[in-house]
Amino acid sequence: MISFNKQTRTFRLENKNLVYMMHVNQYDMLIKLYFGKPIEDFDFNQIESVQNIFADTYSYYDLEKKEEHTNSKLDPFSMLCEVPSNLSHDKREALVIINHEDNSSLTDFRYVSHEIFKGRPVLENLPHIRCDEKDSETLKIVLKDIKDDVYLHCYYTILKDLNVIIRHNEIISKTKNVIRVNRLFSQSLDLTSNEYTLLALHGAYASDKLLEEINLTHNKTVIEDVSGGKGFNNSAVYMLKHKDASLETGEVIGGGLIYSNNFKMIFHRTQMEQIRVSIGMNDYNFEAVLHENDKYVSPESFICYTENGINEMTHIFHDLNRKYLLRKLPKPMQKSILLNSWEGCTFNFNTQKIIDILTKCKEMGITLFVLDDGWFRNDDTYGLGDWKIDHTKIDLKKVIDYAHSLNIKFGLWVEPEQISFNSDLYRSHPEYALFDPSTPRPTTLRHQFVLDVTNKEARDNVFNQISAIFDNYELDYCKWDFNRMLTEVYSQTLPREKQKEIFHLFALGSYDLLNRFVNRYPNIVLETCSGGGGRFDLGMAYYSHQIWGSDETDAIPRTEIQYSANMFYPLRMMGAHISNRKHLSIKEKGAVAMFGTFGYELDPTHLDDEQIKEALHTNDVFLRNKELVDEGDYYSLISPFESNFVSWEVVSKDKDRAIVFFLNYRHINWRSRYLKLYGLEKDAKYVNTLDNNTYKGEYYMNVGLNLSMGRGNFVPSLIELKKVNE
Ligand code: DGJ
Repeated sequence: MISFNKQTRTFRLENKNLVYMMHVNQYDMLIKLYFGKPIEDFDFNQIESVQNIFADTYSYYDLEKKEEHTNSKLDPFSMLCEVPSNLSHDKREALVIINHEDNSSLTDFRYVSHEIFKGRPVLENLPHIRCDEKDSETLKIVLKDIKDDVYLHCYYTILKDLNVIIRHNEIISKTKNVIRVNRLFSQSLDLTSNEYTLLALHGAYASDKLLEEINLTHNKTVIEDVSGGKGFNNSAVYMLKHKDASLETGEVIGGGLIYSNNFKMIFHRTQMEQIRVSIGMNDYNFEAVLHENDKYVSPESFICYTENGINEMTHIFHDLNRKYLLRKLPKPMQKSILLNSWEGCTFNFNTQKIIDILTKCKEMGITLFVLDDGWFRNDDTYGLGDWKIDHTKIDLKKVIDYAHSLNIKFGLWVEPEQISFNSDLYRSHPEYALFDPSTPRPTTLRHQFVLDVTNKEARDNVFNQISAIFDNYELDYCKWDFNRMLTEVYSQTLPREKQKEIFHLFALGSYDLLNRFVNRYPNIVLETCSGGGGRFDLGMAYYSHQIWGSDETDAIPRTEIQYSANMFYPLRMMGAHISNRKHLSIKEKGAVAMFGTFGYELDPTHLDDEQIKEALHTNDVFLRNKELVDEGDYYSLISPFESNFVSWEVVSKDKDRAIVFFLNYRHINWRSRYLKLYGLEKDAKYVNTLDNNTYKGEYYMNVGLNLSMGRGNFVPSLIELKKVNE
């Protein structure tokens, strides 16, 4: 899968559908040659031109020999660099920026050696793709900075079964000088054309993760987060769609960062009409001070390639995540039907109320009940950091035992990385709050501060309190929330030298807490959450079984969120519930929620017999389709941002079954519409639940389902297809 040609000093990483090639040039610079569908070989006569597409006047002066070399021709705007330099002649974004002891930030790494090995190194404290020797091979390239004894290790791992290359970088200082790392990105990707548009996600609270198609104009398009991880507004994933590409055809490049704190993705359309993509943890307010033998590791990133359109890129994203990242639910929890107390009760419950809810849960087929916020407090003005059950409010043992006696599993909400100013923990350890104490009015959000998880003592304290509860009560699930961003960003306990590393150290602190939890409670289902659908990222996916999708639980606007997120994230990653909001029946709301984890977020004691019946029916539809939705291939069919419809489809990997979602956002279905499906077997016959007719796969894919009748406004519809042998 990975080879090195000594003569041409060329690396080739390949699997069945993908080739990535790099070259070490005469100046020991690492040059990108090719990234795309398999080609036999690169024409090495062209290597010069890859470096010099437009150069004619760039040369260099040899200080030792005192002579000018006029045939070097390294074009600053068009040469394809793997490790672009800083303050040197490349005038685009650098991969790494180091401030040296002499205060020069000239950073320029040159090839020293390399290693090729099966599998990949494990990033111990960072989330990562869990591949091993049987499914991957790695190239490690060692480069040295031209100014000092500082090394950069660039890792490229290629997967056998997916069109994916995983990348991360490590800086190792061997110099006695103190160096300051001002940027350590995880990847830089130079593309030789500008003919791409960008697909990315943007959002805000309760309208998270919305798809946007962005025209890359000249100069830079930056997508980033600086909030310290809450990140509703942006996601660290992207697709670059070739101008000729569609959902079904054409070249699409995808990528992302496996990280849960400030990130930056820069798409630079250059004056030479190329694109450089630079991705990594954000260099905003970032500086890591390194001493001799220190090592600094970047988060992991990946790039993917397809020549078969956006939907196939979605399959790559989903398969990568499902197979190598997101945790799999423990067997007994795989088909649970969850009911969460939050929207039904908020803080207003007591033991009897929960007993009543559980009794009703049993009637409506619930198999997992989650007691959200409120078991240790009556409102959100206090209590975070004091992880003690409010025994005057709830007899936790009693309700858990009662749930278990009904065969209902039990889960609990926590928010470990936060601290209320009105808490004993804050009163006894004000230094555990993360803010600059010299500020007279540190920001409170939802009446709370952020816990300084860069401080191990604070982490230990909170973890010990929370684990005392999870050790002593029979819990099956945990919802791990994070309700505010970082402000007045400063740690009261970190040394001066570490203050500008704080965002990354915060990420590492959160990961440490999550790691401890996951290792201690491997069978407890973990749903992470961030004040709704923030921190819905690939870093959290590594620790979670699922992530709460959004506090927008109204099924109609939810369709926009789910359509958008589904393009990048697998459906079983997204917590999605039937709530009590607005119009629509349980069945109709269920049609949206079942394309996520499915569940309820309401007070079931308010449901009448008809609604309970409807819930039982909806649960059956969910259970019947759960595996298909979880494991199948997802297809976007109609974008809600381009028409008055939204539609998507999931096809089982063996193509025996499919499920289609359709919704009309207008008053009437004023345009009769044939909905063309994807991904079926052309010659196989399928019966559908819309008109109960049987057609060949090619009919569904070329003519489509006839939706002209009966698809009224705001009625989410499910259509199931099943292969028939006639
Ligand atoms: C925000 C979450 O998104 C909600 O579902 C709920 O858990 C509240 N926090 C509780 O405070």
